[in-house]
Amino acid sequence: MPTILVTGAFGQIGTELTQALYTRYGADNVLATGRRVPESAGTLAGPVETLDVTDPARLREVCARHDVEIIYHLAARLSAVAEQAPLEAWRINVDGLRNVLETAKASAVKRLFWPSSIAVFGPETPRTLTPQDTVTRPTTVYGIAKVAGELLCDYYARRYGLDARGVRYPGVISSGALPGGGTTDYAVEIFYAAVQTGRYTAFVREDCRLPMIYMPDCVKAALQLMDADRETLEHRSGFNINAMSFSAGELAAEIRRHIPDFICDFDPDERQQIADSWPDSLDDGAARREWGWQPSYDLETMTADMLSKLRARRLSGHKETAR
Ligand SMILES: NC(=O)c1ccc[n+]([C@@H]2O[C@H](COP(=O)([O-])OP(=O)(O)OC[C@H]3O[C@@H](n4cnc5c(N)ncnc54)[C@H](O)[C@@H]3O)[C@@H](O)[C@H]2O)c1
Repeated sequence: MPTILVTGAFGQIGTELTQALYTRYGADNVLATGRRVPESAGTLAGPVETLDVTDPARLREVCARHDVEIIYHLAARLSAVAEQAPLEAWRINVDGLRNVLETAKASAVKRLFWPSSIAVFGPETPRTLTPQDTVTRPTTVYGIAKVAGELLCDYYARRYGLDARGVRYPGVISSGALPGGGTTDYAVEIFYAAVQTGRYTAFVREDCRLPMIYMPDCVKAALQLMDADRETLEHRSGFNINAMSFSAGELAAEIRRHIPDFICDFDPDERQQIADSWPDSLDDGAARREWGWQPSYDLETMTADMLSKLRARRLSGHKETAR
């Protein structure tokens, strides 16, 4: 079994992707790392280490000591927090990726998964059914870093033969670890608020429509792309993947089908401007053709599953009605 390193393993995606990797490869073969290791990591079935991706020497040492062959590099600053400290975001998101690529090039690492984002697009990009290959002129430092990252991954693949792959995730919705400061966090917060207090104020407009994906599909995309035959891939590091698109108002209405007295207000802040620069849906034909991408969840099935998972954790102070 290859040893797999996960960076940023205690974040929103890492928490659930690590569990899926345990199931597939055995927990002993999956090394979960983060800049800080939370106390809850003590219950993880596999090995855990502290690893800051801006420290190249430590990255090399950890990879060598564990004979790492595959890396899922998830450590990053997300879009909204990146805007608050752009240079620090660049250091983590771009220099951190460069450190991972350099370590991979000089070691036994054969394959890398690195997620890009719909943030690679900008106001000049066609907004609806955004094509795979189109204008990538983002207006956020997070988006600029993702464009640089896609190009770096392609460069290392072409020049050094490193098998680096990735998808452009839309907003990720999940009931596990909370999101880490992105522009689409409202689509997760709304569920917690709905079951806990029955009321939420979204930081975007009611008609703000963005592409989203539910965590099981997010994890499936990573594993499926990494399973694909290298020869069948024409693209590599920035596959569009589409799962569902809805406005904040439509999401509130769908939740109201389960919790009829749920009240949602809309009070856009500076994150609305970021949301306005992103697509509302994506053409994911390349992902479907090249590695068989097919999402399993839509707005209706995701909402039902989110609410039932949060209620099962006894978060609810609010009664959900049967549909
Ligand atoms: N969640 C989304 O909606 C979304 C959408 C598109 C793309 N992505 C991308 O997916 C990846 C994972 O995102 P996420 O949602 O899990 O983010 P997150 O913020 O929840 O988790 C990222 C983790 O990285 C850690 N980290 C930050 N700086 C680090 C450093 N220097 N060294 C090591 N660890 C560090 C953080 O502590 C955090 O635990 C990122 O590349 C992100 O850009 C996420």
